[in-house]
Amino acid sequence: MLRQKIRDLLPPAVRSRVKRAIAGVRGLGNFYERVYEMQAVTLPPDDSIGLGDFDRIGKVELALLLLEGVQPGDRVIDLGCGTGRLAVHLIPYLSSGRYLGIDISRTMLKEAVRRTAGIKSGCAVEWRHQRTSRFELPDASAEAICAFSVFTHMEAEDTYRYFRDSLRVVRPGGKLIFSCLPLSLEASRGIFLQQAELDLAQRWAGVRNVVTTEESMEALASMTGWKVLRWYRGDQPSVTIPGMPAPQALGQSTCVLQRPS
Ligand SMILES: C[S@@+](CC[C@H](N)C(=O)[O-])C[C@H]1O[C@@H](n2cnc3c(N)ncnc32)[C@H](O)[C@@H]1O
Repeated sequence: MLRQKIRDLLPPAVRSRVKRAIAGVRGLGNFYERVYEMQAVTLPPDDSIGLGDFDRIGKVELALLLLEGVQPGDRVIDLGCGTGRLAVHLIPYLSSGRYLGIDISRTMLKEAVRRTAGIKSGCAVEWRHQRTSRFELPDASAEAICAFSVFTHMEAEDTYRYFRDSLRVVRPGGKLIFSCLPLSLEASRGIFLQQAELDLAQRWAGVRNVVTTEESMEALASMTGWKVLRWYRGDQPSVTIPGMPAPQALGQSTCVLQRPS
């Protein structure tokens, strides 16, 4: 409905461009790519990666990485980088490191590149469109992979595949830091109850929130060889952000995994 309202507000020339883009999107073979592209071409860039304060959420994501010891010289992969919500803060921080933004949606990636284009940083920046769970990257080539609000929208079997290849790409001792929506959060239970009112086809008519449990994510982590280090609950303010008076919470819970040495 929101998509329809936005379409109605568009001038006719823009509307026909959007229509053409949507027709192109329908031809895409990868399910997740299709639903994300559809979202990316129909919603404004700040909203296409989810509602909420774009700037605040990006800062909280960075603060979580810093709590986990990410250093300015590290090689960090931002899986599902979206429209650059984290990148605009992380690229300046990685002053002598490498940032690789990966996304399944070309439109999201394009917007992330545009938003970060003017940033002055010694960071080596790269962007990749990736459709599969196989990273075209050498073994042990990153200190950390982060995936904020990515496995939140995926079935467990797909999350498992990303966990598996992430372990290869991160160096021993390196980390996979991701957020998700465990049922222990009140917000997740609300989302679950909404989704429970829909039938399967409606639930997967677009990008959906897939709720989980800490136990389930931890099981996937151990099945793929990761060690679970800790969780930051999404409803507990655990990070302080310069310029913000009170500690902040992400909303989704964040799990930290480590590749055993
Ligand atoms: C909710 S947005 C979050 C964006 C970003 N991580 C952030 O927190 O601002 C999810 C992003 O993950 C991307 N994505 C979803 N599934 C993906 C996959 N299998 N591979 C790469 N990117 C994916 C989507 O295209 C979208 O840009």
